[in-house]
Amino acid sequence: MSRLNTLRNENISINNVNSEYLLVGFNSEEKSNSTISELDTRLKNNISTILGMENFDGEFGKNLLIYGDKTLKRIGVYGLGKTEKFTTSAARNLGAMIMKKANSLKIASISIDTFSMKLESDEHLQAFCEGLSLGSYEFNEYKSEVKDANTVSEVEFLNCNNPAILDKAKKLIEGVMLARDVSNHPPNFATPAYLADQAELLNNYPNMSVEIIDVSRFEELGLGAFYGVARGSHRPAKLILIQYKNAGNENPFALVGKGLTFDSGGISLKPGAKMDEMKFDMCGSATVLGVMKAIGELQPKLNIVGAIGATENMPGGFAQLPGDIVKAYNGKTIEILNTDAEGRLVLADVLSYVVDKFKPVAMLDFATLTGAVLIALGHKATGIMGNDEGLIKEVKKASDLTSERVWELPLWDEYAKDIKSSIADVKNLGNDRTAGTIAAGVFLKEFVGDTPWVHMDIAGTAWGVKEPAYQPAVGATGVAVRLVYQLLENRLK
Ligand code: BES
Ligand code: MG
Ligand code: ZN
Repeated sequence: MSRLNTLRNENISINNVNSEYLLVGFNSEEKSNSTISELDTRLKNNISTILGMENFDGEFGKNLLIYGDKTLKRIGVYGLGKTEKFTTSAARNLGAMIMKKANSLKIASISIDTFSMKLESDEHLQAFCEGLSLGSYEFNEYKSEVKDANTVSEVEFLNCNNPAILDKAKKLIEGVMLARDVSNHPPNFATPAYLADQAELLNNYPNMSVEIIDVSRFEELGLGAFYGVARGSHRPAKLILIQYKNAGNENPFALVGKGLTFDSGGISLKPGAKMDEMKFDMCGSATVLGVMKAIGELQPKLNIVGAIGATENMPGGFAQLPGDIVKAYNGKTIEILNTDAEGRLVLADVLSYVVDKFKPVAMLDFATLTGAVLIALGHKATGIMGNDEGLIKEVKKASDLTSERVWELPLWDEYAKDIKSSIADVKNLGNDRTAGTIAAGVFLKEFVGDTPWVHMDIAGTAWGVKEPAYQPAVGATGVAVRLVYQLLENRLK
């Protein structure tokens, strides 16, 4: 796993730069800019000649590689497009595009001209840095020999006016990287015990404490729905609780993650095709770990609880059976009609446990919960549902600011009828195969009480997303880590 090590600010003029690769920008309204002119003078009109020859018009993403001299070896001129379209989202994308190009040139360090790249607002600078780091992510841990590994480890910014942003972006992205790494490990490595170990590592941060509850205690604690899923597996399930306290006695904000380290479907076994992808059924828990890591790094003045239900869903001899009835932590009974609708069972207990023990002011959950959300939204948006307009608005606002797209589905009472069971309080399946994502949503709603809550179905966005450039070519995205951190930060204001 190579990492971008340094983002550094340098107060030197563009004229004095020594660089393997200097990046400058050019928007489509500009005929030239002062950076280009200064470089042009230094390189004896080389730049303006080449820009003219190539009819360079500053269209977004277009770029030219120009060779300089002994000290300033290469210059990358990047089009930024129209000024009004150069949003933070474009800046993030640009950061990733530049990083891919720089890595393909096999160089170790690059320099960014903050001024001509139009990175003067904190928001643009942060998004650009996010793109640099995310765009250089790779997961090589299981290759004996790595060909074409990324080479860039240092980025210097010329004259950026808020260097603290560089540090902030780097720390935030550490959280996304952790979420991606944890998700990408294979299921024989990333077991429930491994997720618990990853949580324990967060103990090293100030204000953080971690508690792990082993499956052997689930029945005595009343976690009957979670236990029903866990009992078919030989790898012991864990309820993972991470507490971050940096705001006195305020009630915390809660984050809950589905951590199915493998979902075979259980006795309602899944078909074989692509079953390997069910190693990603713990991506919701990775989001929680990633956000908690970013929180540990950045130490915001908040109280936060992260909770993860970690288990496999396996068809062992002791596995739960279709037809079983289990009792959840809040006392509701659930008829199991399909053991593959397991995520909502695990969450039923974790959500109601968190509500009872921590009395959160609000709660989000992240879960690769339904294949149906892929049918509805594809890989382009997370499906969200909730019981509180205000919290849904907060999620949408953070989504706008981070370009992690969400789309709301309704949890109307009409849908709640679909999960009534004839012999228990609820069943873990809707009535037919329609509105599958909402059926899961109304099911979860039974377990959150009055707590303001939003459910995020990330089954389409947690992996298999290939665009834009800051998304990985293969594997997990670390979805929602940036969104959630932004939401929490908005709460501080
Ligand atoms: N983890 C799956 C959902 C999933 C499927 C995510 C494919 C990503 C890709 C979940 O546990 C599941 O199996 N859901 C079932 C629910 C059904 C049995 C009501 C589904 O979506 O098919
Ligand atoms: Mg399943
Ligand atoms: Zn699942």
